[in-house]
Amino acid sequence: MIKKCLFPAAGYGTRFLPATKSMPKEMLPVVNKPLIQYGVEEAIEAGLSNMAIVTGRGKRAMEDHFDVSYELEHQIHGTDKESYLQEIRSIMDNSTFSYTRQIEMKGLGHAILTGETLIGDEPFAVLLADDLCLMDNDDGVLKQMVGLYKQFRCSIVAVEEVPMNEVHKYGVIQGDLIKDDIYQVKTMVEKPATKDAPSNLAIIGRYILTPDIFDILRNTTPGVGGEIQITDALMQQARDGCVLAYKFKGKRFDCGSIEGFIDATNYCYKTFYASANSSKSR
Ligand code: G1P
Repeated sequence: MIKKCLFPAAGYGTRFLPATKSMPKEMLPVVNKPLIQYGVEEAIEAGLSNMAIVTGRGKRAMEDHFDVSYELEHQIHGTDKESYLQEIRSIMDNSTFSYTRQIEMKGLGHAILTGETLIGDEPFAVLLADDLCLMDNDDGVLKQMVGLYKQFRCSIVAVEEVPMNEVHKYGVIQGDLIKDDIYQVKTMVEKPATKDAPSNLAIIGRYILTPDIFDILRNTTPGVGGEIQITDALMQQARDGCVLAYKFKGKRFDCGSIEGFIDATNYCYKTFYASANSSKSR
């Protein structure tokens, strides 16, 4: 079954400069928790325990985050403040982390191929931490997708309807509806112009991939923006076999943009933080 989750996390985060000049964009906090931690928690909830992170230069804060911090932990040992570390400790008790570096930025497809050394020959999930997916009480998006994988055993992308004037920011699919919210993909285009988009069903940063994707990626030529695109490799898989697109249940925030990040912050503050802390004096 699926055990590993790959996090492509080598990008520069230029839209958040200067904040991301010396800090990884994945460490930007939504309220009091870095984006990457939300992603790892979603993966754990889906039953995945091996986190495989494709990192890059200047990104060591991520590795330190998922490790012990002796001095800090010693200082707050036995005080109320220890409770703030409860979630991160539970993550470290329930999962392993491995890292590899992407030396050159040649696109998402290239980042995923760089992660092959951590994944090997088994199906795996991919989570882009920029896309923050939240649920109130139901299953998280990856958990929904892992359930589908058990049934269909093929690559799956999560999709969401977006306004037509935003399709140029995404990979866009067109397919045949085979079941409620599940499409068999017929066409996939990376960042199409509005007039060329086959639909308004945009891929968001959650994938389940079968390991044959690595051989396909090795032979995928650079596409839009001169980058090796996972969308192009998946289109090849769809042609040769089957790729599903799943209209997931839940809320998604594009935390790669300032507006999405602020929306996520407001939402998380109101939904998770303010209510839990309203009675505590701080
Ligand atoms: C990547 C993918 C794109 C997908 C998007 C989701 O684009 O290439 O197909 O729709 O993630 O966030 P990026 O946002 O890295 O440009």
